[in-house]
Amino acid sequence: EKGTYPHYMLKEIDEQPFVIRTIIQKYSNDNGELVIDQNILGAINQADRLYIIAAGTSYHAGMVGKNIIERLAKIPTEVHVASEFGYNMPLLSEKPLFIFISQSGETADSRAVLVQIKKMGYQALTITNVPGSTLSREADYTLLLHAGPEIAVASTKAYTAQVAVLSILAEVVARSKGLPIDVDLVHELGIVASAMEELCDTRDAFEQIASDYLSFARSSFFIGRTLDYAVCLEGALKLKEISYIQAEGFAGGELKHGPIALIEEGTPVFVLSTQENVNLPIRGNVKEVAARGANACIISMKGLEMDGDRFVLPQVHELLTPLISVVPMQFIAYYAALHRGCDVDKPRNLAKSVTVE
Ligand code: F6R
Repeated sequence: EKGTYPHYMLKEIDEQPFVIRTIIQKYSNDNGELVIDQNILGAINQADRLYIIAAGTSYHAGMVGKNIIERLAKIPTEVHVASEFGYNMPLLSEKPLFIFISQSGETADSRAVLVQIKKMGYQALTITNVPGSTLSREADYTLLLHAGPEIAVASTKAYTAQVAVLSILAEVVARSKGLPIDVDLVHELGIVASAMEELCDTRDAFEQIASDYLSFARSSFFIGRTLDYAVCLEGALKLKEISYIQAEGFAGGELKHGPIALIEEGTPVFVLSTQENVNLPIRGNVKEVAARGANACIISMKGLEMDGDRFVLPQVHELLTPLISVVPMQFIAYYAALHRGCDVDKPRNLAKSVTVE
């Protein structure tokens, strides 16, 4: 039940710190070490390449997961949109393992791929919020998100749960391979949960941003590089699906290859900067759009902030920034939709789980 909350979406955004703490607990043993089922570990360690298959928001979580898995567990990982993969299968490695990411576990596009790869004799792991769902039953292995029911059509806490579970998977695999681990993930995820709480407490700031930048907007842009780029795609999806404002996410460096032509006087451009190695390049992109009249709203992370940034996120581990930078995106979309009188929890033309191909 949504209790005192006006919308499920707002409740589910607020639940994120709790979900992260629940995940830490569910995936820890009595010694406080992160653990994953031995059979799953075995399957991953036998694979020479991981293929993440997902749709929509889950695909965006997969983009982040790929980064974390490659950086911690050193396993080459590809991420594919489910609806494309089935019709245009890439050349597979010798020993692929498939990872299906799906909140509902019922997405038909993903299931079509699962059926295909099972026929080919490959193994699959499903990461889902729904025990007993189709994708869970038909895969060889399941990891649960433990996010609690997600009712709002726009996915929020499932996304952060997916990224958190993928990061745990990456850490446990890395440890099982004897790789040097320079991140204390339990500690870092704890910091993330507290940072999320802080952000939920400052929601008024994001309501003000939505009002300042989006009250009269017909279109908007989200730009970032590397991990921030993945979160920009998610921010744009959130905004378009519930507020119906056209929103596009771009890699900062791609702007000059075309999209910059769309920038007009006053066009809102949301900018994420949480990654030290691309802080200066993304700032360069801000100058490019500002010179064309864009109204840039820069959200940076503590330690990387500069004069004029609209909001500074609390500092978290650089691999985990998507868990917190997505929170302002969720709130901005929520308030933009609310201000426009949209049906936040049930946007037009959309269903919570897409069970047709
Ligand atoms: C966006 C959204 C969708 C889903 C997509 C996949 O807010 O909710 O893009 O992420 O339909 O759904 P699942 O994760 O259930 O497979």
